[in-house]
Amino acid sequence: MDKYETHDCDVLVIGAGGAGLRAAIESSALGAKTALVCKSLLGKAHTVMAEGGIAAALANVDAEDDWRVHFHDTMAGGKMLNHWRMAELHAKEAPDRVYELEKWGAVFDRTKDGRILQRAFGGHRYKRLSHVGDRTGLELIRTLQDKGVHQGIEVFMECTVTRLLKDGDRVTGAFGYWRESGRFVVFRAKAVVLATGGIGKAYKITSNSWEYTGDGHAMAYLAGAELIDMEFVQFHPTGMVWPPGVRGLLVTEAVRGEGGILRNSKGERFMFKYIPDANKKDFADSEDEAKRWVEESIAGRKPTARRPPELSTRDNVARAIYTEVKEGRGSPHGGAFLDISYQPAERVKSKLPSMYHQFMELADVDITKTPMEVGPTCHYIMGGVRVDPDTAASTVAGLFAAGECTGGMHGANRLGGNSLSDLVVFGKRSGEGAARYAKQAPAPKVDDRSVEEAAAEANAPFNRDKGESPYDIQRDLQDSMGALIGIFRTESDMIEGIKRIEELKNRAAVASVEGSRMYNPGWHLALDLRNLLLVSEAIARSALIRKESRGAHSRLDFPKPDPEFGKVNTAIRAKGVEMEVRQMPLPGIPAELKKVYDDVEQMKMPGKAG
Ligand code: FUM
Repeated sequence: MDKYETHDCDVLVIGAGGAGLRAAIESSALGAKTALVCKSLLGKAHTVMAEGGIAAALANVDAEDDWRVHFHDTMAGGKMLNHWRMAELHAKEAPDRVYELEKWGAVFDRTKDGRILQRAFGGHRYKRLSHVGDRTGLELIRTLQDKGVHQGIEVFMECTVTRLLKDGDRVTGAFGYWRESGRFVVFRAKAVVLATGGIGKAYKITSNSWEYTGDGHAMAYLAGAELIDMEFVQFHPTGMVWPPGVRGLLVTEAVRGEGGILRNSKGERFMFKYIPDANKKDFADSEDEAKRWVEESIAGRKPTARRPPELSTRDNVARAIYTEVKEGRGSPHGGAFLDISYQPAERVKSKLPSMYHQFMELADVDITKTPMEVGPTCHYIMGGVRVDPDTAASTVAGLFAAGECTGGMHGANRLGGNSLSDLVVFGKRSGEGAARYAKQAPAPKVDDRSVEEAAAEANAPFNRDKGESPYDIQRDLQDSMGALIGIFRTESDMIEGIKRIEELKNRAAVASVEGSRMYNPGWHLALDLRNLLLVSEAIARSALIRKESRGAHSRLDFPKPDPEFGKVNTAIRAKGVEMEVRQMPLPGIPAELKKVYDDVEQMKMPGKAG
């Protein structure tokens, strides 16, 4: 092993988005020698794609808000599959994490009397999203990056980790390579925190960029950890659909939060007809009422109108747009029209500056004059590593996880804005959990044999003759996932999907690349394919056994929720080379917290979540 560059630390954090940065800040503040590895440049993370805001019950705009209502809305949005304790901690601690960001220098938009301004988002009963125009994730990353760098965290940029290393049953480090030189690197650590984000690159149309190949999910699984709820993949309703080069790029939900209206090619405001009967009482039932809500919002008056139907939860809006397009009422490039141009141009530019520039520069569309064309884009996965809510410890000793690569917090569907708050609440907790664990853990050992195995695995694509290009395999995977395990699913499609994934695994096992390890993106993708295929299989196998529709998992052959499936999470772990999928009873919610949920559920007021 001496032949490889080796680094020693107490806590190794893999992934430098919001969760990884917050974990590293906490761990180093507790005195642990902390190393932070990022696949990309520091600051380039999917966190910046949470544009519209961070959800926390500050009650600055709607004074009635508090953690109980946020807890309720998160559980209702997740269709009660969320881990109750994660949802409780998240709702209670999110306000402190927002004020901490403010203290560390984050700039937020302000109310007239100088407090942090909050806006509406789907599924949140109150205006709850603190924001900076439509660049909130960017501001969060900038703030955490400044804080972390000044605190002296050691950062390893453009370094991809391919394997977790273990000493017996305990995770004691990781193996990876420098993207530029291709040289291998070994990290020895008493504790490892995974914060690698999502899996978006398993789908062709996605808001995720190249880094998001399910690395943390796959490495945790291969190290023996359990994954839960992998069937729940979030398709954000509004991505760009045109021009082709930017298809999937996010159009923030803040457009709808600020009053954006969805229409089909016939000019119909179609969301009215997609509100489920059970939620109808909570939404405006006419254009006039929806218009009044927007006017009251802009004027900062207490709403007397109910919220517009565009503020239904993401799963519902994505299905609605998909259905309109499928039934022939789509926009010219296969989406729906999202219109904010009826508002004063100066307001649009000040509330949504990034959207204004994004459409102007990439599509030559002036959103202050013309509606945008938008359609669903793969944005987020609710499923991931099963962790202890309080400490973020996984089911494997020494391994912790936070953020999108974990499961449990969001259940069957995440509410917009709950990702940024999740990152800072559980980023902090994971840093603390890992640092405390590291304090009492013995010096980490990694054995030469597992390092050599990891090196051989990484070198393998160069040693195969005339194999296929990894790009062809990724393209075929993305096509299959989109067509067979996308927004709507059926048993026969998923069985076909699993068959294709098996074939793709065989093709990937003989994929080859040319050249050297020096900056070689084809080689990088060949290594990422293992993770993409693994998470795709986990999604497909979990989706197949959930014979119901719930949240983001919509089955045409089982179109309704089934109360029996409402009692279980889907858990996955490695059993030899097989993927074992089982149903796991939900952790029982304590009576007093169930009462909190029920009490909020009974409260009648305009804008109630749905
Ligand atoms: O639409 C958005 O601004 C995304 C937010 C999120 O995913 O939380």
